Amino acid sequence: MNNPIPTSLAPLKLGPHVARLPIIQGGMGIKVSGARLAGAVAKEGGVGVIASVALGLSSPYYKKKSDYFKANQLALADELKAARATAPDGVIGVNCMVAITDHEAMARTAAENGANVIISGAGLPLNLPTYTKDFPDCALLPIVSSMKAARLMCRRWGNTHKRLPDALVVEDPNTAGGHLGVKRQDLGDPAYDLSRVVPEIVAYLESEGYDIPVIGAGGIWDRDDIDQMMAYGASGVQMATRFICTDECDAADAFKQLYLGRKPADVSIVDSPAGLPGRAVHSDFIDRLDGDGEVAMQCFANCLRKCLCRDDKETFCIAYALDRAQRGDLADGLFFTGTNLYRSTEIVPVRKVLETLCLDDSRVA
Ligand SMILES: Cc1cc2nc3c(=O)[nH]c(=O)nc-3n(C[C@H](O)[C@H](O)[C@H](O)COP(=O)(O)O)c2cc1C
Repeated sequence: MNNPIPTSLAPLKLGPHVARLPIIQGGMGIKVSGARLAGAVAKEGGVGVIASVALGLSSPYYKKKSDYFKANQLALADELKAARATAPDGVIGVNCMVAITDHEAMARTAAENGANVIISGAGLPLNLPTYTKDFPDCALLPIVSSMKAARLMCRRWGNTHKRLPDALVVEDPNTAGGHLGVKRQDLGDPAYDLSRVVPEIVAYLESEGYDIPVIGAGGIWDRDDIDQMMAYGASGVQMATRFICTDECDAADAFKQLYLGRKPADVSIVDSPAGLPGRAVHSDFIDRLDGDGEVAMQCFANCLRKCLCRDDKETFCIAYALDRAQRGDLADGLFFTGTNLYRSTEIVPVRKVLETLCLDDSRVA
């Protein structure tokens, strides 16, 4: 790491790995956070995360539907190698969603190819330790949205796998982007506020005598938000929307441009075929989905374990819509975002984002 960003923020320990900056760049699929973004964040001292979902679609390994799963594994290995070349000593993670068909294969591929960290949500990753057991240095971070889920993860992993999470990412479904871990009708419930859930989980972990860092995620944008999260007892933050409008974000330029100059009201909730709500930028695609329903529905990747599009011929093909988005297709793409969408004003280098967050004079007086 050349010229480290000076900060008074404490480093973040994830199993045997230490990130100088307690900031995890949240995984963003499909290929919004690949090697380029993850490598840049890790090089500056944060935790850079490659989103593993459907990575193969934009790789040379994918030519036909039957190539899909193999292509995902080969593409993830390539992305990890490229991120590591950018940040040889950085902390590099992979996001492996539980809801995807090849969750196990992607977790195994991540660990085998040198991921320092695996972050796993969109379902509870109850069996994750089994997939990575030959790689004890690979830190495992489940994503939870409630105290109940945090307790369940600790108990289950303790009993079944004789290990505990290396950290817990606590994600607020009322502000985060992408798939949200609660039912649509539960969105808006203040019971999920990080101001409540983070202190509750921190107190539970302390009462059990567990030394497990808690990471706050969802709606975190500036240094004041980070300081606030630390005051709740968190040891770090995970931020995604903030990293979209960066030079290094792996998506097409047209994708990034769509996030600039927006208003809070430009954010919509869509019903994903995964059976979860998702938060996205309001777009032509969403208008058609909510109107005449004229959107791509052909299953071309078999990407989800449970899929309302493939199994019940409802909703839309999410792999197609997210893949179109990262290529900059403004008509057919689905553009995930957190509620902070309206705060993106320009496209800047990752280093500038991290300096803004970490330099101590970046705090608002
Ligand atoms: C474009 C986009 C794609 C996302 N894709 C994933 C994903 O593939 N897997 C996942 O677990 N979370 C995903 N998320 C959630 C983020 O990793 C993160 O936890 C969340 O957005 C944090 O809130 P913030 O965006 O307000 O910082 C995505 C978020 C966005 C904005």
